[in-house]
Amino acid sequence: MLKGVDVLQFKNFKDPHGSLIAIENLQDTVPFDIKRIFYIFDVNKDALRGNHANKKSKFCLICLNGKCDIRLNDGSNEELMTLSDPTKGLILDKLIWKDMFNFSEGTVLLALSNETYDSTEYIRDFEEYKELMKETPPVQERMEA
Ligand code: TYD
Repeated sequence: MLKGVDVLQFKNFKDPHGSLIAIENLQDTVPFDIKRIFYIFDVNKDALRGNHANKKSKFCLICLNGKCDIRLNDGSNEELMTLSDPTKGLILDKLIWKDMFNFSEGTVLLALSNETYDSTEYIRDFEEYKELMKETPPVQERMEA
């Protein structure tokens, strides 16, 4: 797995009536203070979402329903994953490039973030991103910033 990427397994309160997962800041679940949530749904199967990196925002992505693929890049290495399990959260540190695609019908992708929305912290040009990552200190240092 790329540095700055992690998969959390949430505790599922599952009983004969169904399942429930509770997420609280820093309580053995999401490792940051949650300031923003958004969700992506009704996505065309040919759509490419994401296609950016963020200078400040970290994310926890949870596929609540359906399935999609996600391609991650840290400026040097790439990783491909499938999101389909609502009991798992994909943690992405800031400055991880992400592309989401192959959305199956009915997919709902939930995103939690440590930052409110600020369009100026988005890097939408992959060449610019790669240049920036050449000058950016390793992810462990950035995690503490
Ligand atoms: P965008 O980041 O392009 O979505 P994706 O990465 O999934 O393709 O965002 C789509 C639109 O939604 C864009 O106009 C900005 C707006 N937006 C907000 O206003 N707040 C947010 O928190 C996010 C993620 C997007």
